[in-house]
Amino acid sequence: MSSDGEFEIFLVAPPGLESVLCAEARAKGFKAAMAVAGGVTLKGGWPEVWRANNEIRGASRVLARIGAFRVLHLAQLDKRARRLPWGQVLRPDIPFRVEASCKHSRVYHSGAAAERIEKAIREELGAPASREAEVLIKARIEDDLCTVAVDTSGELLHKRGHKEAVNKAPMRETLASLFLSQCGYVGTEPAVDPMCGSGTFVIEAAEIAAGLKPGRSRRFAFEQLATFDKAAWQRLRQAGSENVVRPAVRFYGSDRDAGAIAMSRANAARAGVAELTEFHQHAISDLAAPQGPPGLVIVNPPYGARIGDKKHLNSLYRALGQTLLSRFGGWRVGLITSEVSLAKATGLPFAPPGAPVSHGGIRVRLFLTGPLR
Ligand SMILES: C[S@@+](CC[C@H](N)C(=O)[O-])C[C@H]1O[C@@H](n2cnc3c(N)ncnc32)[C@H](O)[C@@H]1O
Repeated sequence: MSSDGEFEIFLVAPPGLESVLCAEARAKGFKAAMAVAGGVTLKGGWPEVWRANNEIRGASRVLARIGAFRVLHLAQLDKRARRLPWGQVLRPDIPFRVEASCKHSRVYHSGAAAERIEKAIREELGAPASREAEVLIKARIEDDLCTVAVDTSGELLHKRGHKEAVNKAPMRETLASLFLSQCGYVGTEPAVDPMCGSGTFVIEAAEIAAGLKPGRSRRFAFEQLATFDKAAWQRLRQAGSENVVRPAVRFYGSDRDAGAIAMSRANAARAGVAELTEFHQHAISDLAAPQGPPGLVIVNPPYGARIGDKKHLNSLYRALGQTLLSRFGGWRVGLITSEVSLAKATGLPFAPPGAPVSHGGIRVRLFLTGPLR
């Protein structure tokens, strides 16, 4: 950490979507944001850490870098870890835990490395170590350089604090918001998800349009750090809630599964967007474009590897494409799927797809059209 109180902040991104997350961070006023492998780096102090956690939709977690040093063996790790300013960051009365990873380094045993750092903190600061601790110190040793950071988020950020009900293959809110961004979605158009599952895309789109902050309902690990200023955090949160607007457009989900529709409605109500959203139970064949201006159709149909019968997938994608081509003139379509052949089966005029991204272990891509004719 530098004397001006600024340090490196790292936003963790799903590999493949770093540049999309970087664009979001810049749009939200984090001017020095830079995309790197696995995430986005920023510079800032603790208020920026709080704001990033509260406002950025696409980050999986926010790390604050505490220090970095070269390390060639475990005794050196022990010695150098003790010199980090633990007392400025951690509280002696709050439990912590340490995770380490090692790559291309002389210190190669991640368990032993984590133990040394944990011991250093216990002995220097007097804080208790606990496996269940919310406060997590992450050490990465790569090419003999040890970088130490504190995870300021705690529970992963896709947990917005509203969703209780999930279906078989839900999309994480963070990933859904990045796909929406990749579609150029900024909250001014209506959105439709005709296979909405638990309603993730529809609820994210409604929240974006309403200017709701993704972190408004949850707590964060940074509340347990020595650097936490409750009054300043409450002011920042309050300022965020003043920008809530009433969007002129609406957000629609449908699914053939009655349970999915019940879940979506419950999730939308908990997120405070029930009035902006509509959910209906019907199959793709009964889908019609909502009244009003065109917008974005965003959908991740079954992929086959997780749910659904592979044999039927081609005809399902074909039916989806036919419905959209015949009834959604002027709308754009963003389709997330694992197979180029399935995207092709829709007959929709997709541009070359985005980079592959892991969704529950399956590599998926976004296929996007311009406005349909
Ligand atoms: C991969 S899941 C979508 C998950 C969703 N994005 C979420 O975050 O929860 C696919 C959904 O498509 C629905 N589905 C499958 N065939 C359908 C059809 N013919 N018409 C409408 N919905 C269908 C399934 O019920 C399932 O909820």
